[in-house]
Amino acid sequence: MRIGIIGGGQLGRMLAWAGLPLGMEFSFIDPSPGAPAGQLGHLIVAPFEDRAAMFDLAQNVDVVTYEFENVPTPLLREVAAARPVMPAPEVLEASQDRVAEKSLFQALGIPATRHAALDREEELDFALDQTGLPAILKTRRFGYDGRGQVPIFERDEANAAFRSLADAPGGLILESRVRFEREISIVSCRDRTGSVVFYPPGENTHQDGILRSSRAPVRDQSLVHQAEDYARRILEHFDYVGVLAVEFFVVEGALIANEMAPRVHNSGHWSIEACATSQFENHLRALAGLPLGSTRMRGEALLVNAVGRLPSASATLALPDVHLHDYRKAPRSGRKVGHVTALAETRDELETLAPGLFELVPFER
Ligand SMILES: Nc1ncnc2c1ncn2[C@@H]1O[C@H](COP(=O)(O)OP(=O)(O)OP(=O)(O)O)[C@@H](O)[C@H]1O
Ligand SMILES: [Mg+2]
Repeated sequence: MRIGIIGGGQLGRMLAWAGLPLGMEFSFIDPSPGAPAGQLGHLIVAPFEDRAAMFDLAQNVDVVTYEFENVPTPLLREVAAARPVMPAPEVLEASQDRVAEKSLFQALGIPATRHAALDREEELDFALDQTGLPAILKTRRFGYDGRGQVPIFERDEANAAFRSLADAPGGLILESRVRFEREISIVSCRDRTGSVVFYPPGENTHQDGILRSSRAPVRDQSLVHQAEDYARRILEHFDYVGVLAVEFFVVEGALIANEMAPRVHNSGHWSIEACATSQFENHLRALAGLPLGSTRMRGEALLVNAVGRLPSASATLALPDVHLHDYRKAPRSGRKVGHVTALAETRDELETLAPGLFELVPFER
């Protein structure tokens, strides 16, 4: 089975790492010649808009998937006419635009954040009436790691916020700032026959809009059921194949969807060591028409992202069940360059370990 992956970042790298034992071969397309996945397969160095390069990738593989979300969907649809693209381009289209994404959630009965779309400064007052304050102004497209977001606490800050983002292609969205108790996410996977597996949800923390940590499993069964129910609605709506992640805010015990990612997700990286089958392997199994593997956890897991710089390998690996992932990316502030996953038998043991781990793993913004 030859797998073509659009994007050669750490997600592509971890996908290939999971698929090599299954005899799979990997090709990637990425604009960077030093893309982290390049060591594990054939790398086509080209921008994602390069039609010829995209077809070069597609024609030499059995199935195409993506690990990067800002792929032009008209081109992806053309590719899909030549080779199976999974998940389907329509899913990506919905996830690329925060307004379309929220409309999808609402159409499927999934609670979403109050919001209003806006293109012009004159629409701010109306949008603020819809969301109330505090609010967050975001670009509809191309945001990641909290980029393209400006908080608004007072009405007189709104115009400056608008002007700071006004040049963004694709327009803006104003969202109510949700006063959440916690944030959780669920990673799910659906195969070609419609079978679905769920990973236990993880509880996530963010720093400066960047995922810092994820702890699993979330034990509150009511939250688990809500998350599974909502993820399943999306999977079934699209006749989805592959891994889907959905991020939620928890407010008074109820979930409000924040966003979805039609790909393997940072908040599921602990599944590599903590689960019988990782999110990466299950994504590939789904694409290849193979049975999905168990998502059973073999302990309590804590993932901490290394942002800007890697931790010391010798200090990290001196801890008994702690695993280091170096994405082979040049250190740069605000950039995810690796992660560490710690496992423990009990939550208490994990929490004893946690402060030391946060200390050890850099966060440089
Ligand atoms: N409407 C909101 N109310 C409260 N907090 C929010 C809201 N929107 C975003 N945040 C906070 O900022 C974080 C990042 O926001 P979001 O997930 O929208 O951004 P992103 O840049 O697309 O991030 P990602 O890297 O997850 O793709 C959220 O996880 C949450 O902590
Ligand atoms: Mg997010």
